[in-house]
Amino acid sequence: MIQKLTAFGQSLMKTYLKPGMTVIDATIGNGYDALFIKSCIGESGKLIGFDIQSKAVETTHHRLQKEGFENFVLYQTDHRHLDDFIKDDTIDAVVYNLGYLPSGDHHVTTLAKSTIESLKKALDCLKPGGMLFVTAYPGHESGFEEALKVKDYLEALDSKRYHMMQCRYGNQPACAPMLFLTEKHF
Ligand SMILES: C[S@@+](CC[C@H](N)C(=O)[O-])C[C@H]1O[C@@H](n2cnc3c(N)ncnc32)[C@H](O)[C@@H]1O
Repeated sequence: MIQKLTAFGQSLMKTYLKPGMTVIDATIGNGYDALFIKSCIGESGKLIGFDIQSKAVETTHHRLQKEGFENFVLYQTDHRHLDDFIKDDTIDAVVYNLGYLPSGDHHVTTLAKSTIESLKKALDCLKPGGMLFVTAYPGHESGFEEALKVKDYLEALDSKRYHMMQCRYGNQPACAPMLFLTEKHF
């Protein structure tokens, strides 16, 4: 019943995501989350992906194409620039899997300042009823600062406009992953 936090996040996403939705993956990495999202929203749904690493864009492109998907667009850029590509109130869900690629350069990691900047823009681009899914990893040095800042930022959201829920194991150390779910009402 109680699964790994990433699997738990995916089961919640699976409940929410429907064919035809438009979804942003703000950290595409190796493309596993992107493929999962596409399998939920189908070819009628559009995936928009961001990553700062060219390899992430290439790998994800290849992974999605291999499965026959075409309705996606991937940008090699910092996700804090997502408003250059996306209009406000147009997106059904935004997904962040923070940190670094376990198989890649651990110095190429998401950082508190740009993540918070990006989250503000992600909330703006969500439609009313849209969902933000953020998984944070406080187990490494910059990830600890980032997870705390993400927590502080999301906890301070206006509760009339957003519902925010935090999930983590109750009997694991403070460095265990954290999942934040935010629903935009208007
Ligand atoms: C934990 S990995 C993502 C895993 C991925 N979702 C998957 O399914 O494989 C984090 C990714 O965030 C990317 N990243 C780091 N800083 C970023 C930024 N400012 N904007 C966009 N992507 C960033 C890294 O290059 C890395 O690929």
